[in-house]
Amino acid sequence: MDQRLHQKKQGTQKLNIVSLFSGIGGLDKGFSDAGFNVIWANDFDKYAVKTYNCNFPNPAICADLNEIDINTIPEHDVLIGGFPCQPFSMMGKEKGFDDKRGTLFFRVVEIIINQRDRGHQPRIVVLENVRNLLKHDKGRTFKLIKETLENLGYHVFADKLNSADYGVPQSRRRVVFVGLQEGEFEYPEPVKEIVINGESLEVEDNRVEIPIVVPVSSLYPIETLLPPTEREYTTSPLTAALSL
Ligand SMILES: C[S@@+](CC[C@H](N)C(=O)[O-])C[C@H]1O[C@@H](n2cnc3c(N)ncnc32)[C@H](O)[C@@H]1O
Repeated sequence: MDQRLHQKKQGTQKLNIVSLFSGIGGLDKGFSDAGFNVIWANDFDKYAVKTYNCNFPNPAICADLNEIDINTIPEHDVLIGGFPCQPFSMMGKEKGFDDKRGTLFFRVVEIIINQRDRGHQPRIVVLENVRNLLKHDKGRTFKLIKETLENLGYHVFADKLNSADYGVPQSRRRVVFVGLQEGEFEYPEPVKEIVINGESLEVEDNRVEIPIVVPVSSLYPIETLLPPTEREYTTSPLTAALSL
């Protein structure tokens, strides 16, 4: 193991991340909270990028990944990306790699090869997609992704995870690929408790009971009958909704 990775593993240096299809930064948030350093991010949706840039110190680049000169993507330790899932989703028409968006996986591959040719292939790759990808085209799509990453030198792990098992107040079932150049990976066990405002709450069947007391008179305040533009919020609507 080289000295730099050793230092990073000892926690004296953070691992650098490049985030593809960063969206509003859901994946990036988890990695940042876990102590990683997102140094470069990209998405082509201008509203997602605007939101992302309000929340992360390194602004995401708003551009189509197919049109970005991949030589400008900096050296990094970890490549992450929830590549577009519509082509694999049960909601879509299941065209998979025939759909132009499906080919973005191969853009990810091009980036890894480009980094390798420049002498610094990312040591870790984390890719996320809809769980239907496992079954798509009778499992051939999954096999192709796994084998392509293996041919790039990664030991590939893949499992289905549900965000609700990890304290996220939303059920999103996803397949998460983890490619490691060395070592083993163990998927984390679902959490048994989450802490909200310093209070530890038990998680049971993906659910948490949050004890709140809401005076009946405040459940339907008269202003909720007005159109949103005429309402006055003392706090932002989102914060207000979350605090209910
Ligand atoms: C499944 S979402 C990823 C969500 C992200 N992981 C998050 O936590 O917010 C896929 C993202 O890929 C972006 N995308 C799709 N095609 C793209 C392209 N050609 N270039 C750049 N971004 C693209 C979409 O705008 C979308 O935000």
